[in-house]
Amino acid sequence: MDCLEYWKLEEAPFEENADPKFFYESIDHKEALERLRYIIESHNMNIGLLTGEIGAGKTITRNVLREELLQNEEHNLVVCLDTSNYRDIDIIKEILYQLTGSNPENLPNNKYVLITRLKRFLATEVVISAKRVFVFLDEAQKIGPHYLDSIKDLTNISYNYESPITLIFIGQPDLLTKIKKLPQVDQRISMRYHLNRMTRTDTENYIKHRLKRAGLEEDIFSEDAFYLIYSKTDGIPREINRACKIALDYGFSEELNIITKQVMSIIFDDLNRYERRDLG
Ligand SMILES: Nc1ncnc2c1ncn2[C@@H]1O[C@H](COP(=O)(O)OP(=O)(O)O)[C@@H](O)[C@H]1O
Ligand SMILES: [Mg+2]
Repeated sequence: MDCLEYWKLEEAPFEENADPKFFYESIDHKEALERLRYIIESHNMNIGLLTGEIGAGKTITRNVLREELLQNEEHNLVVCLDTSNYRDIDIIKEILYQLTGSNPENLPNNKYVLITRLKRFLATEVVISAKRVFVFLDEAQKIGPHYLDSIKDLTNISYNYESPITLIFIGQPDLLTKIKKLPQVDQRISMRYHLNRMTRTDTENYIKHRLKRAGLEEDIFSEDAFYLIYSKTDGIPREINRACKIALDYGFSEELNIITKQVMSIIFDDLNRYERRDLG
């Protein structure tokens, strides 16, 4: 018997992935989604900003939106980019690749030519059939200030006074600081949202929700365990996943029926010890 069988789970509930199937709509994730949907539906707001701590749920929120947009494939084209240290031309090449399939290695290193190609595509394939392009730039705190400015100019391409491109910048809190120093970008952002850590109630419901999605209806964490998980993880989903995953393994190896506060306390002590060792 393995850990999943032991807990009567159909699949692993706390894996490190941003699978929308497991999405839990906490107060903040709901608000983030609603604001992003608003900018997506509007035709004259073209730049949005979603920030949040590492592990707060930015990428999974993006994936939920991406799925929603792709349900209407006839009208929406979606580009998702993990922009690690990209220059503006790398970003434009990647956009062209995802939209047109043209191999980035064969595209020229000339911004003018790349923009011309993009405009041609927009004119012949997008605007004409009333489609729109949504570009999600994840980990955007890594884009250099000069390139951020250059990328925002993509929304200047317009047809009948409307831009067919909407950009959503997503990143860690330092993206905010970076953008504040760029008034020409800052002023163009029509929607911004900062994802906060989850509340205690949301932390509990989040755990229950992930377990349920993985096939388990029963409560296997005690009330006081939830409290400790919340206080030790600060309501950060990635941290919660990490602790709960270890808890399930531990419970399986010790043949427990319920994960109590005492169990969680052992796990957090252990995690702390390893972290201190990592720090040297
Ligand atoms: N609202 C949520 N519902 C379900 N899982 C979530 C939620 N928010 C975050 N997670 C999970 O937490 C982990 C970190 O989320 P992620 O979106 O990658 O964070 P970020 O991009 O902000 O660093 C992932 O495993 C993800 O599945
Ligand atoms: Mg992310």
